[in-house]
Amino acid sequence: MKSHWVVAITGASGAIYAKSLLEELGKTNIKISLLFSEYGEWVSRHELEISENVLLADYFGKFAKKADFQFLENSNLAEQVSSGTSRFSGMAIVPCSMATLSAVACGNSRTLIERTADVCLKEHKKLILVPRETPMNLIHLRNMATVTEAGGIILPATPGFYNLPKTIEEIAQFLAGKILDQMEIGHQISERWGEN
Ligand SMILES: Cc1cc2nc3c(=O)[nH]c(=O)nc-3n(C[C@H](O)[C@H](O)[C@H](O)COP(=O)(O)O)c2cc1C
Repeated sequence: MKSHWVVAITGASGAIYAKSLLEELGKTNIKISLLFSEYGEWVSRHELEISENVLLADYFGKFAKKADFQFLENSNLAEQVSSGTSRFSGMAIVPCSMATLSAVACGNSRTLIERTADVCLKEHKKLILVPRETPMNLIHLRNMATVTEAGGIILPATPGFYNLPKTIEEIAQFLAGKILDQMEIGHQISERWGEN
């Protein structure tokens, strides 16, 4: 069966990581269900300088060269991925706000993002959270520990610099490469230390 990943964008800083990830996923032949929270949209528009005239779905949709991109409404809990019977491969929340991290750690399922994350944990599918906040308080740290204990993967937005990136895009691609590795999707978006 075709690999099917859910990618969610929430309101933490770092929309460029989602952009890099989706650019690379767009080159594969997998299915992507993309959704964003209200503040995921707000921060993405601000950081990626997307004009109000452009639908976010269209902005990210243009990256789908080979992949099958589908856009979902975060308010629609009746989507297929909301059910434990759904056969999607897993979910990446990129970037993941502390608010969404908290909702996932508590098992809140009031939005499609939160519900799909909950489905991933209960069905033992891969759940990758890319949190971004600094500094972090004890609640943030405990929520990350809770999600890890429940089987989720905390992949903080902390790019490495040992490949000597020259542009912001290269910094984002480093992180996108780490996410793709967790998704077990082959890529050449970033160099691997010692391989070149
Ligand atoms: C410009 C801007 C930057 C933000 N950056 C972060 C951030 O880096 N991390 C974070 O946890 N929240 C950040 N927030 C706050 C979240 O957007 C806010 O908590 C929101 O309720 C998150 O909801 P969501 O998870 O449903 O997107 C930021 C908000 C704005 C407006």
